[in-house]
Amino acid sequence: MHTIYQYQEFLSAYLQSQYETKEPRNLYEPIHYILDLGGKRIRPVLTLMTAEIFDADYKEALPAALAVEVFHNFSLVHDDIMDDAPLRRGQETVHEKWNLNTGILSGDAMLILAYQYFEQYEPTVFRDLAKLFSKTALEVCEGQQWDVDFEKRNDVTIAEYLKMIQYKTAVLVAAAMKMGAIIAETSVENANLIYDFGLNLGLAFQLQDDFLDAFGNPETFGKQVGGDIIENKKTYLYLKAVAFSKQEEAEELKNLFSIQPEDSTEKIARVKTLFDTSGASKATQDAIQDFTLKAFQTLDQMNISADKKEMLKAFGQRLMGRKV
Ligand code: IPE
Ligand code: MN
Ligand code: MN
Repeated sequence: MHTIYQYQEFLSAYLQSQYETKEPRNLYEPIHYILDLGGKRIRPVLTLMTAEIFDADYKEALPAALAVEVFHNFSLVHDDIMDDAPLRRGQETVHEKWNLNTGILSGDAMLILAYQYFEQYEPTVFRDLAKLFSKTALEVCEGQQWDVDFEKRNDVTIAEYLKMIQYKTAVLVAAAMKMGAIIAETSVENANLIYDFGLNLGLAFQLQDDFLDAFGNPETFGKQVGGDIIENKKTYLYLKAVAFSKQEEAEELKNLFSIQPEDSTEKIARVKTLFDTSGASKATQDAIQDFTLKAFQTLDQMNISADKKEMLKAFGQRLMGRKV
């Protein structure tokens, strides 16, 4: 096994080895730009780590890990268009730095590039990886559509929200891990258990993302703080705040989440206060912990050594405590 830092290094070396100067520049430059902004590389690290947990060499998992990372970055390029986001990883988003059409087409090309990485696997593994990937990618689109639909709705339930984040975020974390299991050719039981582990970790991850979107430090967060509030995203924070508030404040929240003022400064400040005073911030923190612990429970049934389980737990703990 290796450390998270080592996996990140292996990935960035592999990524750099894949670059070739290709034309047209306006198609490929934005792709390299977004990939070189880095990020946490959580998903591909999990693919490499899972491959080794089930006794394969991480090197075998590099193409699949990069496929996952390129797909994830594709989804971010298009997501930033859909969310009208100015910042990603502390830098301008692709559609801001170039333009909308560049964001659309470079994103499309990334989706295709992601698929190409699977061509390096032999037929049985290729089929299993491609099948899982297609299913996952379609689910991500479904999650994204719900996320957008919810902006205009004021009757979203917690169950609907959880399903939405499962699809837009958690399934890719789960699939990233299952790919490592597929490459290592472990048992179906282990592959399914690691998928469940990733799914619950992914839910905790998105809840934390929503929390940081409101309460992250603008100096270090890398995205526009308050972006979800500006876009009227019906997050766990919002839904719990409405549920926990008395009628007057619940109405105020609903009203604030139906408007898009020119200057959102006051709206953001007021909403954050209501998130805190209603108890929604605390409830979100509790839910993050609950989903992380649920992920840990799936490890109990898994047929791997205790120190490997500890490694996966340490990763989950680290995600829970993250500030970016
Ligand atoms: C993005 O969700 C999900 C996908 C790109 C599929 P968000 O819109 O909540 O993520 P951030 O906050 O922009 O990273
Ligand atoms: Mn989004
Ligand atoms: Mn977004």
